[in-house]
Amino acid sequence: MIRSVLALLDIRPAYTAMLAERHDLHRYDLVPDKQKFLDEMGDQIRAVVTSARFGVPEDLLAQLPNLEVITSFGVGYDVFDLKALRDRGIRLSTTPDVLTEDVADTAIMLMHATLRKLVLGDDWVRSGKWAAKGSMALTRSIRGKKLGIVGLGRIGQAIASRAVPSGVEVGYFGRSKKDVEYRFFDDLTALATWSDILVLSCPGGAATNGIVNEAVLDALGKEGVVINIARGSVIDEPALIRALQHGLIAGAGLDVFENEPDIDPAFANLHNVVLYPHLASGTVETRDAMGQLVVDNLDAWDERQELITPLV
Ligand code: 8YV
Repeated sequence: MIRSVLALLDIRPAYTAMLAERHDLHRYDLVPDKQKFLDEMGDQIRAVVTSARFGVPEDLLAQLPNLEVITSFGVGYDVFDLKALRDRGIRLSTTPDVLTEDVADTAIMLMHATLRKLVLGDDWVRSGKWAAKGSMALTRSIRGKKLGIVGLGRIGQAIASRAVPSGVEVGYFGRSKKDVEYRFFDDLTALATWSDILVLSCPGGAATNGIVNEAVLDALGKEGVVINIARGSVIDEPALIRALQHGLIAGAGLDVFENEPDIDPAFANLHNVVLYPHLASGTVETRDAMGQLVVDNLDAWDERQELITPLV
């Protein structure tokens, strides 16, 4: 048993219950007077359970002097200051691999939904436009397109392996050339010029902040489509909205946004964009697997001061 664990959220009820059975668990999100709690308990907290969305705010971290480990529900780590954690000797685990397939499926789903105009088609049927106006305008094929993947990590590779059997040619941009058969671009604008569809599957954070900018969108061009399952911060969002409003690109399929969940209201008036509420990993099966991995990481820490999926 770890004395004491601070959970910043309910990761999933069944898995939060497992944590409570195994450890001395405190639910910070339910604590009414947080400062009083920290004054009394802050120095007893050894582990924090959080998510890729919440991280651990700097002022909270500063009040947990004996923190040893953070287990995060999610694979993204852009919310964490890794240097600050290393400096303090705090270890961090995330939940990689278990969400790869669902996130890759979501990228492919958004790609189809955007090119084949699934949401407009649904509305065409539902609203009676089909009966009133006849057939909807034609859409675009996936087959034969060039797919540019920004970030060919685990998720990017899972996207590529789904795209190839659909008759899609794959190219990628990333920090380094990998031992894969896909075409490597060492320049993002060059990848965008080559691509019909640009998929973002790179980590968020300072290194990728706003890399998909006006010049990259211009290079993608009028027939081009952007799919984002990475982080909203990777795209210069005002530039994306302008490009969509003025038809400088054909469309976008977005699971992530700059300011979640209060996204820029301009998106709601755009008919060439498919919107999804940051739910790429959001299946019961994957969220259960992520919950189990959080529980297992804390067990490993408790039993042998090791993490199963350490990042730091
Ligand atoms: C989750 C994510 O939505 O793994 C990530 O980095 O963004 C998503 O899987 C998030 O972690 C759950 O809060």
